[in-house]
Amino acid sequence: MNRKRKLSHKILYVAYVATSIDGKIAKSGHSGTDWTSKEDWNFFQKSLSQMDAVIVGHNTYNIAKDRLKWRNTIVLTSKVDTPKQSGKIVFFNPEKLNLKKFLQNKNYKKVAVLGGSRVYDFCLCNKMLDKLYMTIEPYVFTSGVSMFLGNKFKKYKFSLQSVKKLNKKGTILLQYKNANSSHKN
Ligand SMILES: NC(=O)c1ccc[n+]([C@@H]2O[C@H](COP(=O)([O-])OP(=O)(O)OC[C@H]3O[C@@H](n4cnc5c(N)ncnc54)[C@H](OP(=O)(O)O)[C@@H]3O)[C@@H](O)[C@H]2O)c1
Repeated sequence: MNRKRKLSHKILYVAYVATSIDGKIAKSGHSGTDWTSKEDWNFFQKSLSQMDAVIVGHNTYNIAKDRLKWRNTIVLTSKVDTPKQSGKIVFFNPEKLNLKKFLQNKNYKKVAVLGGSRVYDFCLCNKMLDKLYMTIEPYVFTSGVSMFLGNKFKKYKFSLQSVKKLNKKGTILLQYKNANSSHKN
């Protein structure tokens, strides 16, 4: 029997979000993201091609399932007790099992956090958000879904790594690093 302990590796967790100027990610839990620019879409798709897996919430999955079925996708849901696999999709309840361990055992090195609001919040609170790419589209929504849906106030420090204007209409891509991340990237 091989008694050598398997060295666990550090996963890089990268969150991607598109927001309005007033920090909303959607009109409602069931609406799509048809308001984002093609420049953001191109950046997003290119970035995802470098990731081993993505994490989404059940609502986001329901909206984007046709596109997600080709990716290793972990769908967070309270509806299962044990992980339920269907092709490349795994329905996973992080209240029942340790998500970080699950992803380690899959040997993923880079995992994209794709939202929505409970998923961003869960990942931030559980040290699963090392980098954040935030695209601000030039709209004000006045109401809608906020990026983070937590139930108590907490302050997390991020440092700005880059700012890029993606097009003439003023779409801005911000790259942040979580100041508490221990990942070297
Ligand atoms: N602009 C953007 O970048 C962006 C990104 C992502 C999504 N969106 C938009 O945001 C909206 C959806 O966001 P949302 O916040 O309403 O929904 P969501 O996070 O996609 O899904 C919420 C659902 O996921 C499950 N879930 C999430 N976190 C969980 C956890 N920690 N433990 C157990 N279950 C968990 C629960 O489903 P169960 O009921 O199955 O338990 C929960 O009701 C959509 O309109 C989508 O298009 C926008």
